[in-house]
Amino acid sequence: MNLAIVGATGAVGHELLSVLERSSLKFSVLQLYASPRSAGSTLMFRGQPLTVQATPEGAIPADVILASAGGSVSREKAPLWVKGGALVIDNSSAFRYDDDVPLICPEVNGEAALKHHGIIANPNCTTLIEVLALAPIHRTYGIRRAIISTYQSASGAGAKGMEELLEQTRQVLGGGEAGHQAFAHPLPFNLIPHIDVFQDNGYTKEEMKVVWETRKIIGDPALNISVTAVRVPILRSHSEAITLELERPADPEAVRELLRRSPGLKVVDDPASNLYPMPLTASGQYDVEVGRIRSSLVFDGGIELFVSGDQLLKGAALNAVQIAEYLQEKGALRAAATAS
Ligand code: A2P
Repeated sequence: MNLAIVGATGAVGHELLSVLERSSLKFSVLQLYASPRSAGSTLMFRGQPLTVQATPEGAIPADVILASAGGSVSREKAPLWVKGGALVIDNSSAFRYDDDVPLICPEVNGEAALKHHGIIANPNCTTLIEVLALAPIHRTYGIRRAIISTYQSASGAGAKGMEELLEQTRQVLGGGEAGHQAFAHPLPFNLIPHIDVFQDNGYTKEEMKVVWETRKIIGDPALNISVTAVRVPILRSHSEAITLELERPADPEAVRELLRRSPGLKVVDDPASNLYPMPLTASGQYDVEVGRIRSSLVFDGGIELFVSGDQLLKGAALNAVQIAEYLQEKGALRAAATAS
């Protein structure tokens, strides 16, 4: 199997390389692509330098392409890569809402990946981090309403977002004023309730992505869900406070037990010992932390919880690699790629 990464030099690309180093995915060749700016540079993989190539205009000679170079690159080039015989696992939002493109969180709806037509979409990071908890709760108790507030790190804006947070924080600590480019306002010592562009309904596109994508992954187009997405001045890992009104009343201990048995999650919920999900502990981990599980004060029989997950890992690179692993385990990788 011949594997390629497009966007290898970016924040997610970097994590893709480190996840692949530890992955059970079997491949014989790994090719790295980025913009022409990075052509000729090298990145280390399993102790060997690999040369980064400029992304070509047309097809890429690969069976599977992990694409993480942004929506416009994917929109323009992914159809050409598919024509060339590749399966594209796309990290951008370009195709996520197309009916014939599966949107996959392998722990929740892996089998839907088997029905692809050359492109599989990797969900938005904020969606992935909550859907691991929401899917089993929905299956067991039925979610009537979900209200989510997010605390999203600078890494959501890529390597440039992380650099801007570090640089501008240094600027403020040195007595200066923070500037901004990657974000709508300076992020150090601030919160920005504005991620992606505002929509006609007053919500941002980031907020609506979580609504649309959670419905698609869970397979319930009528799921009532509302989101407020906030950028916070931390480097990596997104957190989310979640309030759920349920069809069937839930006991917090039973929910804890359910989530302990659910793949991709780590229950961290011992307030007496100051143990709960935090970006600091979730960062670098494959599992999403879930805790602060308690009965809702506003919805009878409802549940409140808090999740923290590494935006660059489960929220992006890890999930993309897990999709490829899932297809390979099912024997569907080569066959699917050559069929397209
Ligand atoms: P480069 O580093 O050469 O600019 P991030 O999300 O961290 O900003 O990373 C974006 C990734 O997408 C980088 O690897 C970047 O490469 C790559 N990229 C940006 N524009 C293009 C393009 N037009 N074609 C291919 N790759 C691109």
